[in-house]
Amino acid sequence: MNLAIVGYGKMGRLIEQLAPEFGFTVTLKLDEFNNVDGAGMTAENFRGVDVAVEFSTPHTVVGNIERLAALGVNTVVGTTGWTAQLDRVQAAVEMANIGLVWSPNFSIGVNVFFRLVSEAARLLANEPAYAAWGWEIHHSAKKDAPSGTLVKLIEEMRKAGYSRPVDAGSNRAGWHPGTHEIGFDSAADTITLRHAARGREGFARGALTAAAGVAGKKGLYEV
Ligand SMILES: NC(=O)c1ccc[n+]([C@@H]2O[C@H](COP(=O)([O-])OP(=O)(O)OC[C@H]3O[C@@H](n4cnc5c(N)ncnc54)[C@H](OP(=O)(O)O)[C@@H]3O)[C@@H](O)[C@H]2O)c1
Repeated sequence: MNLAIVGYGKMGRLIEQLAPEFGFTVTLKLDEFNNVDGAGMTAENFRGVDVAVEFSTPHTVVGNIERLAALGVNTVVGTTGWTAQLDRVQAAVEMANIGLVWSPNFSIGVNVFFRLVSEAARLLANEPAYAAWGWEIHHSAKKDAPSGTLVKLIEEMRKAGYSRPVDAGSNRAGWHPGTHEIGFDSAADTITLRHAARGREGFARGALTAAAGVAGKKGLYEV
């Protein structure tokens, strides 16, 4: 299958490196130079492309998704910091009848972590002696804060019935690929749940698995 990489930064480069293991040939790479204002999103460039993987920036992602949809290209979106515009994305996907998978975090470990946090939130929802916090740290080049993963962790706590405040904080420093923590504190004790990524490979492998899965499908899926 032919893969287009939209956003050729740290994630885009790693996805290119790992793509052959997942049966993909990278036939197109769009970056900040050849895709200014979506200039690289032409039918000619995308001829023969089965799936696009989008890891660009919070400012460019929604425009890129709309153009990919207009070209009828099934897409995996890993970029974060755009969910306030989810309605626009949903409309574009439905109008074009493409398949699109998005996730703030494609690693298997974080998806298990979402469930562990959700269960802790459910168990403590009716224990007012416990107060909650959320925290994350990423490398200094990350453009959005709080991270999409922390936003989703707090959403999962809400869905599990935890309605008290969750004090959230972010740090940006050095090279951290991504650490997330959710904690609950009472006068008696503290519970700390933490996920720490060792690198970006888990995200890239998860996104390529999603790319193989979305080929030929229709509809909007959140992982
Ligand atoms: N879902 C997940 O599992 C996951 C995991 C890791 C990261 N992420 C997210 O994925 C995104 C990318 O992360 P990253 O670490 O790869 O960041 P990055 O290294 O900054 O890469 C993003 C690249 O996209 C380029 N770009 C800018 N405008 C573009 C356009 N119009 N078309 C195509 N590319 C364009 C950027 O160029 P400039 O820098 O010159 O603007 C940059 O080279 C971030 O939002 C990050 O939070 C998600």
